[in-house]
Amino acid sequence: MKVSVIGQGYVGLTIAAYASEHFEVTGFDLSEKLVNQLNQGISHIEGIESALLAERIKSGSYRATVKDSDLDGSEIIVIAVPTPLTSNREPDLSFIEQACKTIGLNVLNPALIINESTSFPGTLRNFIKPKIEEYAKSDLEHKYAISPERVDPGRTDFNQKNTPRLYSGLSPEASEGTREFYSKFCDALIQVSSPEVAEAAKLFENTFRQVNIALVNEFAQIAHVLGINVYEVLNAAATKPYGFMKFLPSAGVGGHCIPVDPTYLANAAETHGAPATFIRRANELNLEMSKYVVDRVAADHGGSLKGKNVLVVGVAYKADVADVRETAAAHVILHLRNSGAVVSWHDELVGTWNGESSTPLASADICIVVTKHSSVKAESILKSAPYVFDGTGTVTGSVNL
Ligand SMILES: NC(=O)c1ccc[n+]([C@@H]2O[C@H](COP(=O)([O-])OP(=O)(O)OC[C@H]3O[C@@H](n4cnc5c(N)ncnc54)[C@H](O)[C@@H]3O)[C@@H](O)[C@H]2O)c1
Repeated sequence: MKVSVIGQGYVGLTIAAYASEHFEVTGFDLSEKLVNQLNQGISHIEGIESALLAERIKSGSYRATVKDSDLDGSEIIVIAVPTPLTSNREPDLSFIEQACKTIGLNVLNPALIINESTSFPGTLRNFIKPKIEEYAKSDLEHKYAISPERVDPGRTDFNQKNTPRLYSGLSPEASEGTREFYSKFCDALIQVSSPEVAEAAKLFENTFRQVNIALVNEFAQIAHVLGINVYEVLNAAATKPYGFMKFLPSAGVGGHCIPVDPTYLANAAETHGAPATFIRRANELNLEMSKYVVDRVAADHGGSLKGKNVLVVGVAYKADVADVRETAAAHVILHLRNSGAVVSWHDELVGTWNGESSTPLASADICIVVTKHSSVKAESILKSAPYVFDGTGTVTGSVNL
């Protein structure tokens, strides 16, 4: 069976790697540079080893392509393209639309089309299906399903195989084909009653994280004014064996999901006349954390950071990945520069970013830890500056949130 995966990023390459153990997989992407790299057996994401990719290429079960006509003949097509926000912070379905156009124009046989990109309820039924039909050259009876992705890049305990997967088709045949496909490489498949339920569940999962992170971020500010150590309180609360889940404060949330997906849900709610004030406020509060951190550091330096050499440690959005999408470090650096500080950053996993390079962990006036990769030692951070503000709760002996 020939399977094509549109988008070879974090989600698409992961699916392609797992599926190519059982199917002949074509990974389609618009980026020629990425496709060339993948065809040389070089993986660009955590969790998919280059050796595995090279082996699949050698056996002929995987290849990457920029040629849209290569999609023709696919029996299953998985869509895994970005769903970001526009500059007005509204859902941006332009990548999905482009993928639909590619399918419509190039797939000339009936196929099962599965969307893995995150979007609001109704996207499969009211956007993907009509768009593909609009672009199709003839009346093809494609089947449509959704199976939202839950991969957590860099995580080792839960992966594609042992993370339960939700799915639902627009027809019983689409649901059945989806179950058959994923059952080859996923242990637990959960069918829900409609694609809209699956789409909403994905958004709610990430909204749950966002509001709980916002809550703990607000609590960190409260604990500070009360003169209580936030981590000690969280650890104490976490001794309750039920009804409590520990989230950690930070300089903000990053990545492609938590800062973005709840806005898809809020937008869908507001479009249908339901207020989403709680979700909106959680997002704002998380965005405000970077300013809060910089203000705390400034307050510890007589209210001004002008001319201070500040080293930001960790610019990836979370530990042990090189992903800088929506990273809170960008906001921290911006606020620091607006305050007149001279800013450099250290993150050897990221290496280069925004035309700047990682600098050594040394000789700063102030160090602010935004993300701590496990390879970075707390002792080295403490030696890098006389004042260290730790936004991660992992550097004992520093000033903390
Ligand atoms: N990264 C995660 O941890 C994660 C987890 C769950 C769900 N998701 C969701 O999965 C979707 C994909 O996210 P990602 O992290 O894999 O994105 P990504 O940015 O890592 O990769 C997307 C890839 O798609 C390619 N692309 C864009 N438009 C294309 C098109 N029209 N045709 C072919 N290729 C195209 C890009 O070049 C890029 O390589 C998003 O909706 C995201 O919200 C991501």
